[in-house]
Amino acid sequence: MNSIKTIFNNLIKCKTPQELIDEGENSELKKTLGAFDLIVIGIGAVVGTGIFTIIGSAIVGSSDGAGAGTAVVISMLLAALASVFSALSYSEIAAMIPVAGSAYTYTYATMGEFMAWMVGWILMLEYAIGNITVASAWTGYFVQFLKGFKHILPAFVVNCPLWLRNDYRTMYELCNKYNWNPQDVMPFINLPFGIHIPLAINIPAIAIVFILTLLLIKGVKESTKVATIMVGVNMFIILSFIVVGSFYVAPENWGTSWATFAPNGIEGIFSGAFIIFFAYIGFDAVSTAAEETKNPQRDLPIAIMGTLLICTILYVGAALVLTGIVPFNFIDTQAPLAHAMRFIGKNWYAGMLSVGALCALTSVLLIYQLGTTRILWAMSRDRFLPKSLNAVHPKFKTPHIMTWLSGLVVIICALFMDLNLSAELCNFGTFTSFIIICIAVLILRKTEPDRPRPFKVPFCPWFPIFGILTCFALMYCKFSAKATSALYFILWLIIGLTIYALYSYNSKRQEELEQADNN
Ligand code: ALA
Repeated sequence: MNSIKTIFNNLIKCKTPQELIDEGENSELKKTLGAFDLIVIGIGAVVGTGIFTIIGSAIVGSSDGAGAGTAVVISMLLAALASVFSALSYSEIAAMIPVAGSAYTYTYATMGEFMAWMVGWILMLEYAIGNITVASAWTGYFVQFLKGFKHILPAFVVNCPLWLRNDYRTMYELCNKYNWNPQDVMPFINLPFGIHIPLAINIPAIAIVFILTLLLIKGVKESTKVATIMVGVNMFIILSFIVVGSFYVAPENWGTSWATFAPNGIEGIFSGAFIIFFAYIGFDAVSTAAEETKNPQRDLPIAIMGTLLICTILYVGAALVLTGIVPFNFIDTQAPLAHAMRFIGKNWYAGMLSVGALCALTSVLLIYQLGTTRILWAMSRDRFLPKSLNAVHPKFKTPHIMTWLSGLVVIICALFMDLNLSAELCNFGTFTSFIIICIAVLILRKTEPDRPRPFKVPFCPWFPIFGILTCFALMYCKFSAKATSALYFILWLIIGLTIYALYSYNSKRQEELEQADNN
């Protein structure tokens, strides 16, 4: 009985906010950022795969969920709503406990050791698995980009076999869609007992992750200047898509009745909102810069709302133009915006759009790869993972083992996960971390009522509660549809639980013994 009590007490052991602040390596950061800088950071982290690629699946649907049709604009508003409540909660905690590590660190301060480990483990879904989505999308636009040079490049590069630029799930989906025989379009490895393994390797996706991992090991400094240029390019590309495309819109493509506007009804709208939520992920980058903000109380909400508003307007504009120029059934799911431009005969513009998309996707990949490493770093500093993983490269002074590890996870998982499955898993992870952040705000208001809060969520407890409910509602729609991603998510939680029980729990106790010895 006593030992069960001890285990339970260990599971709920919290770090105090003060402990975290003392531990934070970056507590002396200069306060230089204003609302505009924060919006630049937000848009840089947010605009990417969602609007350039996933919008296609959100409209048309995939093997795992119905599409929203033109009603994707409603899905986008729903996803934005779920984001805004959680973003405000993020800001309150980020401004109050300004240390690196995001939701993982905050959970440690509010819900204890076990939940902190689970949140860190879930954040891996957001960052590492999310990167599989971005890398797969990168391939789509890379192929479009190569097609723009088909007169100069050898034919085998431009038309390289499908199995060398897709994962096996996508290959089977293509076979279903076009009635192909899988044996005709992919090689198979034949093993004894009649086992045949399809061979499909997304080489461009794997190559870009490999190159970025090498770059990160050499040490790439994030620079606001580069971010500003990237954001400028993104805005220009999407705005020009809206302007150029709007001249070719045929309003009948939007549907002439509710049934044609939202071909899969409410189910399609919710399923679309779940997947298009991916397009909004990344704005938590704004709240993590809280400590470097000149006037957080004023600038954080302006920046978060500003980022979400600007992105929502751009997304809705792009969705209306896309569904207005390409009939529902012809919308491409790999590079929908570039394909739409080809559809109206603007091949040169499709090429330019592909370059813009490649820039946006590369920067998101880099941010996420860095994010994975940072979280793994924080978790192994806290002894949830072996400390040896934190080794720093003797020459480049970067955490090279961690960086390799995060790169390899993406490369290996990219062999058996497709863009939609990885995006949905990433969304499950993000929704869960948002729910936990909203709960953390409510807990900290009770346990630390007097701690200074440079920024406070308005209408507390209602806004955090709305955040929890909207995230739950969107997750529930996937669970009730028994989507493959929902099963993978449960599997992910079980693996996390097992690692904690077999390794992390004991490692934490070992750390306590060492600390006691030192004292
Ligand atoms: N929101 C980011 C993107 O769409 C993750 O790529």
